[in-house]
Amino acid sequence: MLLGQKRILVTGGAGFLGTHRCRRLLGQGHEILCVDNFSTGTRRNIEELLDNPLFELLRHNVTFPLFVEVDEIYNLACPASPIHYQFDPVQTTKTSVSGAINMLDLAKRLKIRILQASTSEVYGDPIVHPQPEDYWGNVNPISSHDEGKRCAETLFFDYYRQHKMSIKVARIFNTYGLNMRPDDGRVVSNFICQALLGEDLTVFGGGGQTRSFCYVTDLIDGLDRLMNSPENITGPINIGNPGEFTIRELAEKVIAITGSKSKIVDRPLPEDDPKQRQPNIELAEKLLGWRPSINLDEGLKRTVTYFEALLRAHGKPMIGDKRYQSATSTCLPLTHIG
Ligand SMILES: NC(=O)c1ccc[n+]([C@@H]2O[C@H](COP(=O)([O-])OP(=O)(O)OC[C@H]3O[C@@H](n4cnc5c(N)ncnc54)[C@H](O)[C@@H]3O)[C@@H](O)[C@H]2O)c1
Repeated sequence: MLLGQKRILVTGGAGFLGTHRCRRLLGQGHEILCVDNFSTGTRRNIEELLDNPLFELLRHNVTFPLFVEVDEIYNLACPASPIHYQFDPVQTTKTSVSGAINMLDLAKRLKIRILQASTSEVYGDPIVHPQPEDYWGNVNPISSHDEGKRCAETLFFDYYRQHKMSIKVARIFNTYGLNMRPDDGRVVSNFICQALLGEDLTVFGGGGQTRSFCYVTDLIDGLDRLMNSPENITGPINIGNPGEFTIRELAEKVIAITGSKSKIVDRPLPEDDPKQRQPNIELAEKLLGWRPSINLDEGLKRTVTYFEALLRAHGKPMIGDKRYQSATSTCLPLTHIG
């Protein structure tokens, strides 16, 4: 091992954020052990890393104990999009809770630092706006994903208090960018794919609910800073972009950037859909010197370029393609693009 080089475990390393996490750490010269069960992550995401001698892939479900030798852990394993975490809610809770216990036990045995990818969903449908870290949230107690993530945070702080461990907890707000799946049902990927394919953009409940969207490279910067911050900075700490937009505004931006003729159509609001979400990032600014630098228009342009290439590579006819009109019925469904 070179001086300063670490062996870093990234659970969920084949997922959207995990892939970016692995790439950035490899770029910094670290060795990566990527652990994933491929429930929502894909091999395609990490294909080009497989030949890198510093990168190792292990197919493993974090709900089972793991015995490996590493210097640091990023615990990212957990489905993040609603259609994925609602698909098998029992497994979602197990991943959050048993996964946290297993990774914390590993960190405890090795006496190493561990970072938890928590979520803005711990605030539920917030009454306080924007959300600071000391707000306790307004959560439906029978929602597997939100409560699982809340329990994981509790476990992190219990291990910290009881076993004097080195922990970091990041509350990640809605993040988007390259390597998202087109079929994951998240609002940014949905809108971009719908617009590129000339389909209507579906908003729910009028689209007046607000969200904040953080570009993925900004998020990874925030995680870097948190992981490498002094011992006494444990979090929880919000990492997100405070720019606040209604879902309808997002849809309009996507239509403008793609030049699509798609229309915006309205559907009934699903249960538990929060009406507003906006991070208060004062703590991240003060303690980590972090704030996002990529605005929504710029981030959307980059993400549109990525999805254009992805859909084209899978034979999806898109707006602007000559074959668009005739070929719409012969292309792959989105769910076949992993
Ligand atoms: N992307 C966001 O906007 C966002 C927002 C808030 C929190 N987060 C958190 O960040 C983390 C990563 O999110 P993402 O957007 O990359 O999601 P993702 O679904 O793309 O990635 C999750 C990864 O974890 C893997 N995984 C799931 N269950 C596993 C298990 N039991 N064992 C091993 N691997 C497992 C999946 O196969 C996938 O590769 C999650 O913990 C999520 O809750 C993400």
